[in-house]
Amino acid sequence: MLEELLKRRIIPVIVIEDAADAEPLAEALLKGGIDIIEVTFRTAAAEAAIGRIAKAFPDMMLGAGTVLTTEQADRALGAGARFGFAPGLNAKVVKHFQDAGGLFMPGVMTPSEIEQGLELGCKVLKFFPAAQAGGPAMIKALAGPYASQGLKFSPTGGITLDNMMDYLSLPVVSAIGGSWLATKKQIADKDWTAITNQAKAALARAAG
Ligand code: 3PG
Repeated sequence: MLEELLKRRIIPVIVIEDAADAEPLAEALLKGGIDIIEVTFRTAAAEAAIGRIAKAFPDMMLGAGTVLTTEQADRALGAGARFGFAPGLNAKVVKHFQDAGGLFMPGVMTPSEIEQGLELGCKVLKFFPAAQAGGPAMIKALAGPYASQGLKFSPTGGITLDNMMDYLSLPVVSAIGGSWLATKKQIADKDWTAITNQAKAALARAAG
């Protein structure tokens, strides 16, 4: 799972209000070449949306975001998520997710949090909120002491098509995440073409 995750460079962070949008949204991303999705537990529809994507697109790399409690972790995994992200580091949630066989990326912003993540066996940590916490310069500074531990960062927060390469060009960054790849408005408007085009544009940018 970790190896598979490390192959992906762009992770759409999704907020789904209506679970019925889950399949067309996943399809739009797949059409654009993105086969990974993080469905955030910020709405009541998250669990059902994960379940629907797992059923319709079993090959998609499916994960949950904003996993704040062990109860949400259970619901995410039960619905078919194979990885999880959180904005912060809650050791109880990390261990719970890992014990159930999932790959978890807690969020960090400081050296102390990074060390907690390493102690919990996390090889990839979410750096959040990336832009506000110092952006690529901060990640570069943090890579100094920690990149030799084999650690990778997956930053999110304030990343767009225009600044994504500032992050992705750092060797310590395995992937970037962002909600711009499928905005709430585009999902509400069922503008699947725009989402496909954004996915294509982001992959083209990542490929150089
Ligand atoms: C996240 O949880 O990763 C962020 O909300 C994504 O940040 P963005 O909306 O600035 O892309």
